[in-house]
Amino acid sequence: MKLAILGSGAVGSSVAELAGEYGHEVVALADSSSAVVDDGGVDVAAALDRKSAEGAVGAADPDDALDADYDALVEATPTTLGDAQPGFGHVETALERDRHVVLANKGPVAERYGDVMDLADDSAGEVLFEATVGGAIPVLSTISDFGAGQITAARGVLNGTANFILSRMAAEGLDYEHVLAEAQDLGVAEADPTFDVDGTDAALKCVILSNVLSQGERVYSLEDADVEGIEEIPGTALDLASEDNRTVRLIGEATPDGVTVGPRLVPQNGALSVTGTRNIVQLETEHAGQLNVSGRGAGGPETASAVLADVGRLPPLE
Ligand code: HSE
Repeated sequence: MKLAILGSGAVGSSVAELAGEYGHEVVALADSSSAVVDDGGVDVAAALDRKSAEGAVGAADPDDALDADYDALVEATPTTLGDAQPGFGHVETALERDRHVVLANKGPVAERYGDVMDLADDSAGEVLFEATVGGAIPVLSTISDFGAGQITAARGVLNGTANFILSRMAAEGLDYEHVLAEAQDLGVAEADPTFDVDGTDAALKCVILSNVLSQGERVYSLEDADVEGIEEIPGTALDLASEDNRTVRLIGEATPDGVTVGPRLVPQNGALSVTGTRNIVQLETEHAGQLNVSGRGAGGPETASAVLADVGRLPPLE
């Protein structure tokens, strides 16, 4: 596939670096300020070197990347709320050009799912978004393979940064501010980790799960979510929980009634008490009990792996 990649942060640059290993060609790579566009293929290593040296990918207008000769647009710009712009506009442009879209940006499918599906219905291109939920874990493809109609709810740990903080606080007896600073030093948390710790990021992922599970019966957005974060949890709460063989995890739930996210007590050695940046999603099935999918839920190469898995699923364009 010929790929145009929008977003040159951890995910976009990892996709650019790894795409060649799977036989794909990067024809455009852009961030919000500039782009390299070359329909004969972009020298990704040189472009990324230039970005780290100069703080920008190249000289062209980022919008030029949307006009390039690509099969699939990889949309990996930062997630935005409300109208999900500019990501939604990028999706719209690519689909109106009958190109495929692979999303790592959660905004369009969390905040404007109905609009994205309408655009996809009118396009020869498809929209896939495995990378928006659970990093490397194949959550959405598991749902699709099993049949969304057979799954009644999804719940789990859906934010790697919050999970890193809670599991370090519990294991080492450290307080929230200390571990948050540690997570930022290690590059686990974003420079601005607000959405990770206030529950918004996990809620967006649950909204996406609700949209997929409802199969068009109802469209969900962040307004359907009841969200509480982990900022107020004292270290003493984790100590008390551990005396009872329990611990605290930020748990998101997606059901037909909407989304809830908040800190919950879970068994210390149970499936939900994953550690570090791991995520887990438990799918409740109609006739077959629970399915668990678990793995690395955050990180550039991890999330890029999910993007490239989606690219590999796309059919050739006519
Ligand atoms: N920052 C997120 C996390 C990954 O820590 O899980 C992107 O959604």
